[in-house]
Amino acid sequence: MRIWVTGAAGFIGHHLARRLLAEGHAVVGIDGMTAYYDPRLKAARLADLEAAGGDFAFHRLMLEDMAGLQRLAAEAAPDVVVHLAAQAGVRYSLEHPRAYVDSNLTGAFNVLEIARLSGVRHLLFASTSSVYGANPKVPFAETDAADHPMTLYAATKKSGELMSHAYAHLWGLPTTCFRFFTVYGPWGRPDMALYRFVESIEAGRPIEVYNRGEMRRDFTYVADLVEAVARLIPRPPEQGRPAEGAADTLSPVAPWRVVNIGFGQPVRLTEFIDEIERALGRSAQRTLLPMQPGDVPQTFADSTLLFALTGYRPSTPVRSGVQAFVDWYRAYMSR
Ligand SMILES: NC(=O)c1ccc[n+]([C@@H]2O[C@H](COP(=O)([O-])OP(=O)(O)OC[C@H]3O[C@@H](n4cnc5c(N)ncnc54)[C@H](O)[C@@H]3O)[C@@H](O)[C@H]2O)c1
Repeated sequence: MRIWVTGAAGFIGHHLARRLLAEGHAVVGIDGMTAYYDPRLKAARLADLEAAGGDFAFHRLMLEDMAGLQRLAAEAAPDVVVHLAAQAGVRYSLEHPRAYVDSNLTGAFNVLEIARLSGVRHLLFASTSSVYGANPKVPFAETDAADHPMTLYAATKKSGELMSHAYAHLWGLPTTCFRFFTVYGPWGRPDMALYRFVESIEAGRPIEVYNRGEMRRDFTYVADLVEAVARLIPRPPEQGRPAEGAADTLSPVAPWRVVNIGFGQPVRLTEFIDEIERALGRSAQRTLLPMQPGDVPQTFADSTLLFALTGYRPSTPVRSGVQAFVDWYRAYMSR
C-alpha cells in the first residue's frame, strides 16, 4: 500500500515509517519540520529513514498548505493516511495557543479533506490521553466521558476526533483515532521529561520535578506503540461490526472508533527518575516543584479494546525502555 505518514520526521512518525518500510509499504512522509524543538533531530531521523532503504519519499510541507497537499495527492494518492503531525506538548500551549489551532485544527481538517478526496481505505488519527482531562476514574477507558480538557492541546485533539467522526459519517471514511499515553524511547522528544532529565543529569544540572514527583504516568514504549498502530492499519472500523470481548467505541452511525494505546501500568514519577539514575549510573539533583497548570496527577490506559482488536498489549517494562533511550542518547550525542 502507499501510506502517507504525516509528521514522519517526528518522534513517533520516524519509528512508524521505519516499520512500514520494513513491511514493504511505499511510505510518503510529510513534515513541515517545525522549530518547536531542534529541527536537527528531525533531519537526523529523516537521514536514518533514508538510510533504512525501501520505498520512501519525503515532502517538506506544512499541513496548512492545502494546495501543496492536493498537488501531492495528484502525484501520489494515499491508500492509507496515518496522521501524526501536530503541535504537541501540554506546557507550550500556555504560551503559543495559535500554533495548536493552526496545526491541530486547520491542519487536521486539510488531512480529512485529502483523505476524503483520495477515497482512502483507512485514516488513522493520533489523539492523546490528555483528552481525558480531569477524568478521576482509572484506568481511563475509551467509553469514559472526555469532555473536560485541561489544555488547549487537549481541546484541539478532541476537536480532531470529533471532526473525523463527522467525516467518517458523511463520507463513509473509515477512521481510527488513537489516544496515545506518554510515549518514550530512542529518538524521543527533547521537550519531554525523559529527554530533559537525561540531558540535565548528564550535564550535572538539577532536574525540575513537578508536583514533587507525586504523579503517575502510563509510560508507553515507542516500539510497543508502533506495533499496535501497525496491527490496526489493516483493521479499518466497519459499521455494525463491533469488537468482541471489549466495550467498543464503534460509532452507531459511522465506520469510526477510538482506541487507547498505553502500557496499562502507571509508574510514579519518582520511580521513573530512579530508573533513569540506574540506567545512567549517576544520581539526579531533584528540584521539587508544585504542579504545573494543565497537568493531571495520573494517566492510566485501559487497553482492553486494543487487545480485543489486535490480540496485542504493550509489554516493554520501563526499566528496559529507559535503558534503550539512554543507550541511544549517548550514541547520538557522541556522533
Ligand atoms: N509523544 C507522546 O507522548 C504523545 C502522546 C500523545 C499523543 N501524541 C501525538 O502523537 C503525534 C506524534 O507525536 P510525536 O511525539 O511524534 O511529536 P513530534 O513533535 O516529534 O512530531 C510531530 C511532527 O509533526 C510536524 N508538524 C507539526 N505541525 C505541523 C504542521 N502544521 N504541518 C506539517 N508538519 C507539522 C513536526 O515538525 C514534527 O516533526 C502527535 O499528534 C501527538 O499529539 C504523542
